[in-house]
Amino acid sequence: MRVMVTGGAGYVGSVSVERLLEAGHDVLVVDDLTTGHRAAVPDGARLVRGSFLDMDAIGRAMEEHATEAVLHCAAKSLVGESIAEPATYYRSNVVGGLVLLETMRRLAVRRMVFSSTAAVYGTPDVVPITEDAPLRPINPYGETKRTFEGALGWYGSAYGLRSVCLRYFNVAGASRLNGEVHDPETHLIPNILAAAAGGPALSLFGNDYPTPDGTCIRDYIHVQDLAEAHLLALEATAPGDPRTERQLVCNLGNGGGFSVRQVLETAEAVVGQPIPHTIGPRRAGDPAVLVASAAKAESILGWRPVRPTLEEMIGSAWAWRHRNPGGYAE
Ligand code: UFG
Repeated sequence: MRVMVTGGAGYVGSVSVERLLEAGHDVLVVDDLTTGHRAAVPDGARLVRGSFLDMDAIGRAMEEHATEAVLHCAAKSLVGESIAEPATYYRSNVVGGLVLLETMRRLAVRRMVFSSTAAVYGTPDVVPITEDAPLRPINPYGETKRTFEGALGWYGSAYGLRSVCLRYFNVAGASRLNGEVHDPETHLIPNILAAAAGGPALSLFGNDYPTPDGTCIRDYIHVQDLAEAHLLALEATAPGDPRTERQLVCNLGNGGGFSVRQVLETAEAVVGQPIPHTIGPRRAGDPAVLVASAAKAESILGWRPVRPTLEEMIGSAWAWRHRNPGGYAE
């Protein structure tokens, strides 16, 4: 299959590209490299540097490549930033997404897999969270992802678009080639590993939550397991496949949770030394527990995470960091 991957120079995108290439697909990456890294684009994939907001450029790239399906990973994805700068999030995640959809409609490309997020649920009433839980995002990031999911559904009924929305929980770990590098970095595991490597001490955001050890519980999922789900989701958008008559939505998590303290302790075991940390105040907008029900992805996509332990996630991230101490060479 000829697959265009937007955001294919980013963390999840690049590992997904690796998996698509391994499965024999022809991959075109479109990335403006504002947060992605040229060096993250695996050999074997072609890179077009450009924004998915640029309809002409996207259309040309899609036509030349004869794209059959799009994996749409490109997005703005920082919760805190989205609250401070909602305009940026609406422009990229909603306007940019619609430009892409309109380009696909013009060129009769009718298959899309979309990187969505657990942030569409907001603070859940019940965990584990199933896909039919109410969508009540509490920040522009989650809101803009929900809005685009809605557009995909309506384009499905009206124009025959087949789509799969994958709602990621907490993505972690690395492949041999690619790992997580954000600037600024806000995520827990990279911050823990930075502290382990002599960077600033980790600030643990709150230990007075209503959880067994007082720290927040999250559902961590290995980025390579996530990449596998993208491949299965793309296959599910094949013409005639009953799973995507209109739109399929699946959570991607392990279906189990770990507390921030458990993550920290596992990281200490992985790196073999205590990791400097302080207990700070709660971070605004953090629900106490976010855990996915992973049943639907298993029953419909046949997907099951095969690297479910924190040791594998943190161990692979630590190994990648060692091989790439300065991040990506750019
Ligand atoms: N945390 C710390 N210290 C840090 C960073 C994080 O204690 O330096 C804590 C957070 O408070 C939270 C947990 O570690 O309890 C995980 O935080 P992350 O920032 O790594 O991840 P989030 O759970 O906030 O974010 C994830 C996804 C987002 C998505 C969100 C949905 O990364 O894309 O879940 O709520 F929007």
